[in-house]
Amino acid sequence: MVDQLTHRGLAALAKQFGGLLHLRFGWLHVFAVSTPEYARAVLHEQDGAFSNRPATIAVVYLTYGRSDMAFAHNGAYWRQMRKLCVTKIFSRHRAETWLAVREGYGALAREVGRRSGEAVNLGELIFNLTVSVIFRAAFSTRDEDGLIEFVAILQEFSRLLGLFHIGDFFPWLAWVGRRGFNRRLSTARGALDRFIDKIVDEHMRRGKNPADPDADLDMLFGGPETVGSTTEWAMAEMMRSPGELERLQQELADVVGLDRAVEESDLNKLPFLRCVVKEALRMHPPIPVLLHEAAKDCVVGGYSVPRGSRVLVNAWAINRDGGAWKDGDTFRPARFMPGEGEAAGLDLKGSCYEFLPFGSGRRSCPAQGLGQHAVEFAVAQLAHGFNWKLPDGMKPTELDMGDIFGLTASRSTRLYAVPTPRLTCPM
Ligand code: HEM
Repeated sequence: MVDQLTHRGLAALAKQFGGLLHLRFGWLHVFAVSTPEYARAVLHEQDGAFSNRPATIAVVYLTYGRSDMAFAHNGAYWRQMRKLCVTKIFSRHRAETWLAVREGYGALAREVGRRSGEAVNLGELIFNLTVSVIFRAAFSTRDEDGLIEFVAILQEFSRLLGLFHIGDFFPWLAWVGRRGFNRRLSTARGALDRFIDKIVDEHMRRGKNPADPDADLDMLFGGPETVGSTTEWAMAEMMRSPGELERLQQELADVVGLDRAVEESDLNKLPFLRCVVKEALRMHPPIPVLLHEAAKDCVVGGYSVPRGSRVLVNAWAINRDGGAWKDGDTFRPARFMPGEGEAAGLDLKGSCYEFLPFGSGRRSCPAQGLGQHAVEFAVAQLAHGFNWKLPDGMKPTELDMGDIFGLTASRSTRLYAVPTPRLTCPM
């Protein structure tokens, strides 16, 4: 049954039973929201009541009892953290952040250039460089000591944060398999503790205030997977629809020219690039199911939702909703094109309830601008700098487009593609 709590499982249930579904797991009430109308009811009309976060046993342990922002309940502590992060850390106008993005994705293009003509594991390359970008932005550092260690910690945390333990649903069964589970949790948290201690020591050595280490853990755990996964999906979709890649490359050639790399200042002049990224986010929102919890007894669409219920907003299903989207399973960026597409008016700020890759309301992504910008920049570098084809004569229709469900819905197989240089200047 837990398998049905994935974006695809819940979407299939919604087709059968409707846009608001009630499920019961042991003591736990779970409500799945799968249409724009119910999303609006939960994330807008009763935003305050549904702004708590549910947390599993693993989440509570790994976040030191919800002391991070993403899993803290709605309240004074969360508000303060959020304000700090939005103004000080997640802004794409923060100089250290943009420097890290520019240098990181510049390195992505150089690395691809070095391997021109061979099949590149583009998925892995994008993920590793995105981790490096966020690491450098988060710790305001240009050296990458500890990056490999950090990636391993990040991957174990990601696996554990996505895990359910039977005690999450049936507290009286919490003892089942507890020793192995607890040991894994404590090893992961110990590794992170030691890593953070080193960072704090380094900050003190550099004369910074250790209480102001620039980074929130959520930045480190939320950033790389979301940005990396969206970039990989955008490239995969364009490999499957080469006409879309050609249109983007034509736009880049017209606006930027073939004698230089893309710069940040070009991004606002590339409307089709923006559409490609929006379409990738629509079809493959990296956080496919938004996790909310009712802070009090509520009524949604005439149904009662008891306090403490878990509310799963299926952004993946909503972004493809048959009532809101024409051919929602097809990658067609031009649907967002100003003056051309039927969805041109939809933005990513969270007031369009049929389009929720960054969520909506008070728990929506505080780094929307930074995330969108980073993906646009990475996709622009790859599409502008290189021509791409699939390896071993693979046809676009043969490309695997399956996803997996974890904390993020990334591709089930990494994207391999063969680049050849396109610019007249060195990358
Ligand atoms: C393409 C990139 C990204 C996408 C699509 C994305 C999407 C999301 C979504 C859907 C949520 C949950 C909304 C909800 O529950 O209603 C979220 C929350 C969050 N995101 Fe992002 N995100 C992205 C990039 C980032 C980056 C780069 C960072 C940090 C540097 C970040 C930090 C956070 C944090 C801290 C939260 C929790 C906010 C809270 O609970 O108050 N995200 N994001």
